Amino acid sequence: MTPSGVLEPLPAHALVEFTGFPHIPSAMDKTTHFGYKQVAESEKAAKVAEVFHSVAAQYDVMNDLMSAGLHRLWKRFAVAQAGLRPGMRVLDVAGGTADLTRLFLKEVGEAGSVLLTDINFSMLREGRDRMLNEGRTPPAVQCDGERLPFPSNHFDCVSVAFGLRNMTHKDQALAEMHRVLKPGGRLLVLEFSKVWKPLEPAYDLYSFKLLPLMGKLIAKDAASYQYLAESIRMHPGQEELKTLMETAGFAKVSYHNLTAGVVALHKGFKV
Ligand SMILES: C[S@@+](CC[C@H](N)C(=O)[O-])C[C@H]1O[C@@H](n2cnc3c(N)ncnc32)[C@H](O)[C@@H]1O
Repeated sequence: MTPSGVLEPLPAHALVEFTGFPHIPSAMDKTTHFGYKQVAESEKAAKVAEVFHSVAAQYDVMNDLMSAGLHRLWKRFAVAQAGLRPGMRVLDVAGGTADLTRLFLKEVGEAGSVLLTDINFSMLREGRDRMLNEGRTPPAVQCDGERLPFPSNHFDCVSVAFGLRNMTHKDQALAEMHRVLKPGGRLLVLEFSKVWKPLEPAYDLYSFKLLPLMGKLIAKDAASYQYLAESIRMHPGQEELKTLMETAGFAKVSYHNLTAGVVALHKGFKV
């Protein structure tokens, strides 16, 4: 202030671009898990985004290596369980590099439609480019599985493969998937699950020693693959996920264990 009491203008260098309020965790924040770490709920999506931005370019190669190609069979099984016919409408939530979308497209034909969606632009771009390289131009939409920007009662089938595990509010995401399905439509959830007990020690060794090492050597990112191993352990098992789906309103919920429960395919219907 000047001696006359008038406010002086701030010097130009004092102007700072406003980029939003920083997130300051407070005691009021609910927490959730990010792998084995507890984080504020509001922080989880950004942490998951970092993981998938980091691995997007190597994602497909790593999937083949880590699963010895098995993920292709798990996905084919999921598509076989979708009950699709030509002309149907499918929504692939958290579709990433478009493995399921590309398989669904063959089932629904020219008369049908498959919408590839993902929250992460880097993953979505990989999926879109892959389809463009194959001469296809299906729509790809960047959106959050917990808040789907689609009308109610619209799709014949909704899928989420290896995506639900990464979502902060799984109940909300399942409720959204239920909302956008037509009555009679089905949800497919393909996800890592609880492995057959006798195989646990070998599976733990593989997940916590080999996976991060492969991540370090191939994707130059051990931490993201450590997160993968931890997030699998924190994800609901077969029966818990079945209950979550029923609570979200799905009927006739069933599941198939694949590769001794390393992965499970859950299926449920909107009535
Ligand atoms: C392991 S990848 C699976 C990609 C693909 N579905 C597959 O099976 O290969 C998990 C995907 O979930 C996406 N994802 C995580 N949280 C999400 C959310 N809240 N909404 C939509 N996608 C999400 C990530 O960006 C990532 O592409």
